Amino acid sequence: MVLAGFLSALALLVGQSVWVGPIAAQQAGTGQASGFLFEKSVGRADGTSVRLGELAAGQPLTVLLFLGADCPLSQKAITESVGDLAKADSGSGVGLVGLLVARDDAQDIQRLRDEFKASIPLLLDRNNTIAGLLGVTVVPTAVLVDRQGKVLYHGRINDRVEQLGKRSVVRRHDMREAISDAVKGTPVRVPKTPAVGCPVETRVSKPDSTGKVEYHRDIQPILYRHCAVCHQDKGVAPFSLANYQDATLWVEMAIDLIDRRVMPPGQAESDFPVSDAPSVPSPEELRLLRQWLAAGMPKGPVPANPPALPPTDPESAGLGNPDMILKPEGPMTLAPSGDDMYRYMVYKLNLDRELKVRAMRFVPGNQKVVHHTLIWFADSATQDRITADKSMNAFGLLPGDSGPGYGQSAMLGKYHKVGGDRSRLPFEQIGGYAPGHSVWKTPEGCALSIPGKTDLVVQMHYHRSGKVEIDFSSIELYLHKGQVNSAEDFRTTNINDGKFLLMPPNQRRRTNTSWPVEDDCRIVGIAPHGHLLTMSQTLTLERPDGSRKVLLNMPRFDFNWQRMYTFREPVALAKGSKVHVSSVMDNTSDNPANPFKPPKAVFMGENTTDEMIFPFIALTIPKKSTWDLQQGFLSGYRTGVLANILKREFGLDAPSDQSIPAAIPGDRRP
Ligand code: HEC
Repeated sequence: MVLAGFLSALALLVGQSVWVGPIAAQQAGTGQASGFLFEKSVGRADGTSVRLGELAAGQPLTVLLFLGADCPLSQKAITESVGDLAKADSGSGVGLVGLLVARDDAQDIQRLRDEFKASIPLLLDRNNTIAGLLGVTVVPTAVLVDRQGKVLYHGRINDRVEQLGKRSVVRRHDMREAISDAVKGTPVRVPKTPAVGCPVETRVSKPDSTGKVEYHRDIQPILYRHCAVCHQDKGVAPFSLANYQDATLWVEMAIDLIDRRVMPPGQAESDFPVSDAPSVPSPEELRLLRQWLAAGMPKGPVPANPPALPPTDPESAGLGNPDMILKPEGPMTLAPSGDDMYRYMVYKLNLDRELKVRAMRFVPGNQKVVHHTLIWFADSATQDRITADKSMNAFGLLPGDSGPGYGQSAMLGKYHKVGGDRSRLPFEQIGGYAPGHSVWKTPEGCALSIPGKTDLVVQMHYHRSGKVEIDFSSIELYLHKGQVNSAEDFRTTNINDGKFLLMPPNQRRRTNTSWPVEDDCRIVGIAPHGHLLTMSQTLTLERPDGSRKVLLNMPRFDFNWQRMYTFREPVALAKGSKVHVSSVMDNTSDNPANPFKPPKAVFMGENTTDEMIFPFIALTIPKKSTWDLQQGFLSGYRTGVLANILKREFGLDAPSDQSIPAAIPGDRRP
């Protein structure tokens, strides 16, 4: 490693302009000491400097945590690291120092202290000197060094996000494991992991220049058209993309995410016009973004009449005033870090009469943590029984979490009894919310009917933000006042294949099912649904004459971005048609969202770590129709109950279990 030492020393001589990443990366776990690391200085909030060695002195090990104050992933890193370090340290006094990369300043230190209650020393790595020396290219990155400045671990804190835009549960606490090894004095088993997050800014912008591609003339319109609906100060996204400074900070990551079709989120294709499909940048627009970055991001002159920011909630325009506003019993408090929370919140209704609803709007109380929701109506007496059960309330809560509602796993089986009356199930999905899509409307003249003696139940998917957050979300109901279409009923249903849906470990395959259309109907909207193994989902219409059209294709299904897609005009389906649903599921370790490492057998079920093919359909059917729309839901419900029993009886949900019971019917199609 003489060469590495030489190059690093060279880098020191010429400053941050020499790229030392790959060399420094090799140091992890190789025993290569880099004593000069401790000679470098970092900045304090008061403008003075301190040698890194001084901060590391007196403790056997130090974690250097590279941070960017504006990066949402990085904001979570502080509390997560403090917690993990406490677990791994076992009293040996491992130090933790936060280093803010170049774009941050003293104000950012103050903000992290105030807002995120950061209790660790926070310093500025001006010019990315230390980051450059250690080959840190994204924030957050944790680097564990010993007393001599030797790198023992370099990488992520844990593997929740293995690929930008794909989240899962934590399967390995990489930094924590590394610290534990080092504290015990044994070699660190995994000394290097890839960190995922926001890029450390290494490029130089030339705001005063002009060029072939300029911010004001060429770039701002692109970002306003496709991104600013969410990425503005009052928008649902965690940061703004609305001005020059924002654009220069995020452009590199934006290009990557547009290229991989992660942003704008929820991209879908259809042979029919979808009224609320995301607006996706064209290849030409992506090329302009790349050119602009390469040219040093010139600002150019401000035009005479600059464009206005788009409204943050365009779908709610023209709704008028809500007739009812529902709230759960109280707010939900979320601890700063840990896996996402899935929770059923009950919005008490329990009326004597049926409600005719023309629109429903979910209003997130705290946009930072409410990621997406699915909404049901459900039998009120059953909800009372579940919420009275203290263990159901405590289910799934982490220390620091508290609030009303109940944990996952209560919908199928234990509490609900599905009787013979198929016209009225005790619970039915009726809508949902995803960032940027809060309103759910029925077509002209139609109303969604919510039966009497039911409550609304919302399955909340919460993200954690790095600090204690409180959410108190509400539901607005807009009632149907006029004449309701006398020939048609507005209904909702789910398509499901009723299979046990065994996904054996280490397999990737396509599963198909089809839904016979038993009466003339009109499809109003579709919400694809699956869990963490579902990579894509396509719904194809096959007409009685054999011709086919794509109703909705999500080439990149993401559990985190579930939502309803509404057709501009409801799509007419003739009796005798079929809707084919095809899902590609990946139960290999190549799937960055796979909740199990190594992969294990996965069954049909309602937990996030179970799986299902369960797209939700909103449709109209003739009033006189005898079509039993609830079959799909019922069969799904029964398979889910069966799966739960089998898992319990045979211990199949034990995380270590790898066995595949041969006797259980599964989908064996390739
Ligand atoms: C419908 C709302 C919406 C639109 C439109 C949207 N974003 Fe986002 N974006 C979000 C949210 C919310 C997040 C936070 C990440 C999350 O919640 O998964 C995010 C995160 C990001 C991130 C950080 C990546 C991460 O995983 O944290 C980048 C970069 C980004 N968006 C760029 C863009 C660009 C560029 C566009 C336009 C081409 C765009 N977004 C359009 C809502 C949106």
